[in-house]
Amino acid sequence: MLIRSSSANPILPSEITSCELFAARRDWLKSALAVGGVAALPGLAACSAEAQGVKLAGVKANPLYAIADEKLNKAEEFKSYCNFYEFGTDKADPPVMAKSLKTRPWTIAVEGEVLKPQVLDIDALYKLAPLEERVYRFRCVEAWSMVIPWVGFSLSELIKKVEPKGNAKYIEFVTLADKAQMPGLRSSVLDWPYVEGLRMDEAMHPLTMLTLGAFGEMLAPQNGAPVRMVIPWKYGFKSGKSIVKIRVVEKEPKTAWVKAGPGEYGFYSNVNPTVDHPRWSQGSERRIGEFSKRKTLMFNGYADQVASMYAGMDLRKFI
Ligand code: MTE
Repeated sequence: MLIRSSSANPILPSEITSCELFAARRDWLKSALAVGGVAALPGLAACSAEAQGVKLAGVKANPLYAIADEKLNKAEEFKSYCNFYEFGTDKADPPVMAKSLKTRPWTIAVEGEVLKPQVLDIDALYKLAPLEERVYRFRCVEAWSMVIPWVGFSLSELIKKVEPKGNAKYIEFVTLADKAQMPGLRSSVLDWPYVEGLRMDEAMHPLTMLTLGAFGEMLAPQNGAPVRMVIPWKYGFKSGKSIVKIRVVEKEPKTAWVKAGPGEYGFYSNVNPTVDHPRWSQGSERRIGEFSKRKTLMFNGYADQVASMYAGMDLRKFI
């Protein structure tokens, strides 16, 4: 995302976990895993630094979401080129600054216009539905893209459990905003916490994914550990990272990017090559790892599955 003002509060070097501390923790975990022989148990990760590279067990590839003619990005590209403003605005900031993010204990509250509100422990979330690998195109509003094998399940599995009431029209995602862990919160670039939202039919669409991993591993902290959204037909900023609360609401949520730049970012933010951003074209994109640009596809290539949700809507107005 592009921002117009610079941070009033720069991130201090003292905020960065020392490499030694990180390496010591990682080595401790490696030996603990070797002794216990239980490398695939997510509950073992007391902190995301230790969670780096932990394989997820029992994940089945879902052939419905394979993309035959496009190459996967490399895990290293995904982990090193990140947008996570809570940890800095440069793409290279989150891989360094997010190392100390604590992802255990972690709970996610599901509340609002529902009959059965719940507070779920992250480890219970892993058991809510079978973990699937789905290969999705991921298109950032900044006109770059990747192809990622995500791990998770449809958000609808969780929403059904809380039984939305008749007046439930939208879903709001609230992500972690912890000043002690997230040096980027000192910047006023966004009105924290980072909030995103979907209309109820979008939230219940099978493509909309509650995501716990990628490349067969638990999510790395810089990619939104321990749980994030992925909505492949929308620009990447809709996919909130490190979610702590899901609210089922009656009115359209006020999202962080719409508040920051209402003339530039909309609530819907469907990938649309025919509607340019006020400051750049959305007609093409650069696939990370490739040299030449490729054409951006309507709804990021998912038009057959999602276009009917927007029938009759003026997509120049509802950006
Ligand atoms: N979620 C939070 N909490 N904070 C952020 O800054 N950036 C968004 C989205 N989710 C962001 C976020 C943007 S702009 C993009 S493009 C994607 O995360 C990037 O995801 P990735 O870095 O895992 O590729």
